Amino acid sequence: MFESSRWWRSAAIYQVYPRSFADANGDGIGDLAGVRSRLGYLRDLGVDAIWFSPWYPSPMADAGYDVADYRDIDPAFGTLAEAEELIAQAHALGLRVIIDIVPNHCSDAHPWFREAVAAGPGSAARELFWFRDGRGEHGELPPNNWTSIFGGPAWTRVPDGQWYLHLFAPQQPDLNWGNTKVREEFEDILRFWFDRGVDGVRIDSAALCTKDPELRDLPESGEPEVPHPYSDRDETHEIYRGWRRIADSYIPQRALIGEIWLPDTERFVMYLRPDELHTAFNFDLLAAPWDATAFHASIDATLAAHAPVGAPATWVLSNHDVFRHVTRYGRQDTSFTHDHDHRRRQTGAPTDVALGTRRARAAVLLSLALPGSAYVYQGEELGLGEVEDIPDHQRQDPLFARTGGANPGRDGCRVPLPWSGDEPPFGFSPPDAIAPPWLPQPASWRSLTVEAQQGDPDSMLELYRSALHIRRGLPALGDGSMRWLVSPPDVLAFERAPHFVCVLNMSTVDVPLPEHESVLIASVPLRDGLLPPDAAVWLRTS
Ligand code: NOJ
Ligand code: CA
Repeated sequence: MFESSRWWRSAAIYQVYPRSFADANGDGIGDLAGVRSRLGYLRDLGVDAIWFSPWYPSPMADAGYDVADYRDIDPAFGTLAEAEELIAQAHALGLRVIIDIVPNHCSDAHPWFREAVAAGPGSAARELFWFRDGRGEHGELPPNNWTSIFGGPAWTRVPDGQWYLHLFAPQQPDLNWGNTKVREEFEDILRFWFDRGVDGVRIDSAALCTKDPELRDLPESGEPEVPHPYSDRDETHEIYRGWRRIADSYIPQRALIGEIWLPDTERFVMYLRPDELHTAFNFDLLAAPWDATAFHASIDATLAAHAPVGAPATWVLSNHDVFRHVTRYGRQDTSFTHDHDHRRRQTGAPTDVALGTRRARAAVLLSLALPGSAYVYQGEELGLGEVEDIPDHQRQDPLFARTGGANPGRDGCRVPLPWSGDEPPFGFSPPDAIAPPWLPQPASWRSLTVEAQQGDPDSMLELYRSALHIRRGLPALGDGSMRWLVSPPDVLAFERAPHFVCVLNMSTVDVPLPEHESVLIASVPLRDGLLPPDAAVWLRTS
């Protein structure tokens, strides 16, 4: 069934966000039975692998990124036996399976943390986390000035007066990676899932795991500290060297994929040295505004940085943490950052959905044509936009509550998928469901269901299907190299051997195409042989 043992170098990988993919038992929450019933859809879409956001038992304080047990499945999603079935079923359909591993922190409901709180100061159990006495006369102030990435202090006090560190929500205590027991535990967790046939892991917050043992304050202003006390510290690499040895001990070799947000591409690719991770999400293009110079520079910087370590690049347009790109590309400001103010300003900013959709069609032809692997976040193949009118009381993302609503959070890209029918739940849940979808679906999604789009050659879904199928059949695409072609202003054109050219027109005028034998696929119809603005095309050349 599977051809290449180095599949991660070229794969098109579909991200399933289990809560929002398909709900088989009608409780309004997606589940593994729902995924299993839709595996045929993913095979037909033409992706090579599925990455599952966390499916473990969790109080869901951060939608499952707060893991209480790394070796089981949350009862809302199903059982371990069902996960094993799902892996086998996916493999039988030719789909590889990647799961999310969350090493920086666990849940406050994890037995280790419960034990640590109960065991008290100075105990071995507390050594697995970052417990410290507070500052101030009575220890009433946090041990240092770090703030949580979700807003507020990065420290929470327990009843005996000590504080513990959490770079994210208080329900996500950071693990102490200086402790051998933590390292051994995660190596064992990797083996647990690799033994069950999982083909690779996506490593959450991969650059944050190790901390300055002195827990030094961050400078109040000015340049970020180097080395930073908790981000991208040199010791982190040793963790992944150990993981790589484990991944390499399996046949076929398992893949390690890092979630690494670092502005410095040189530092970023250090994680991709031959004895570390296989690939990492490249968020640079995702953050770039819709602008030919910015895209060109981002692609060049990405490829140049990856080349010396011999790792393939990855291309990502959306995921469960960022604004859906249909919406982003229809706004005045088409860039993305995690900055709280930026997200607040962007939420609800006017967006031209038709323009965003048109650009999203062009963008996917670009991302699937660039050298390396590419990610598709569930729903982008349907052209879903960010849902921006979720009532406050229904918002679940801790970012919303932790910032007092200043940051509306990430719920808008996590709304359950529309599969069929004219009204919510749009086939996400069965007709006899006992609860509505966990986040409300917009009525306007009736025209974006899978049912409404399949078979319509002009739909986003059929564009993705065609492009993914063409990509799979073309030796020029996936891993390899590319060469820029001379092109009109604000037009990106590159060729890949053998016989392939991609052109993306980011200008405001129709542009001529390079010489070609045939058009493989275009994001919009050509006009008299010219490529219109905000459109892309794949060409077969002689
Ligand atoms: C990155 C994940 O993608 C995000 O959803 C999560 O909130 C943080 N890591 C914390 O685990
Ligand atoms: Ca369910």
